[in-house]
Amino acid sequence: MPPATSTTRDARRRAVVVIHGPNLDLLGAREPDVYGPTTLAELDARLVALGDTLGVEIRAHQTNAEGAFIDLLHDARKAADLAGVIVNPAGYTHTSVAITDALRALDVPVVEVHLSNLYAREAVRHDSLTGAACKGVIMGLGPDSYLLALRHLVATSQEPA
Ligand code: DQA
Repeated sequence: MPPATSTTRDARRRAVVVIHGPNLDLLGAREPDVYGPTTLAELDARLVALGDTLGVEIRAHQTNAEGAFIDLLHDARKAADLAGVIVNPAGYTHTSVAITDALRALDVPVVEVHLSNLYAREAVRHDSLTGAACKGVIMGLGPDSYLLALRHLVATSQEPA
């Protein structure tokens, strides 16, 4: 048996935190022409199913409040078993210095995701403050934005430390 200290990162980090921001609780009902028909519960169920296949636990949260979003990031900071974090800061993407600062305080990889393609939308959505604090950004692919982010975090957490 190899010593515990020579394990891969996968052996130490086995969960992915997902944080959905404001108004994403209304997915499926809210502007379905922009965000699609999938509800938040269905999206989370797809993440959990893929997580089961990949061998990671999904801890999904949704909040409409900026402070609560930051508190969830602080909680993720304290978790010792994370492969990474997936965030969709929704409207706060374009405005929140405070969420950006909290993202910068994390020492696990963070992928920002968006259901819609921000560049194909109004100019106010073209800039992502929060995305600059993340490892990468995936957008415009609907629920696949989240699923691809999960695949990336699990694949890279399995690389030798
Ligand atoms: C969104 C895009 C944001 O501009 C918007 O405010 C959202 C959802 C997306 O997933 O496409 O609420 O983050």
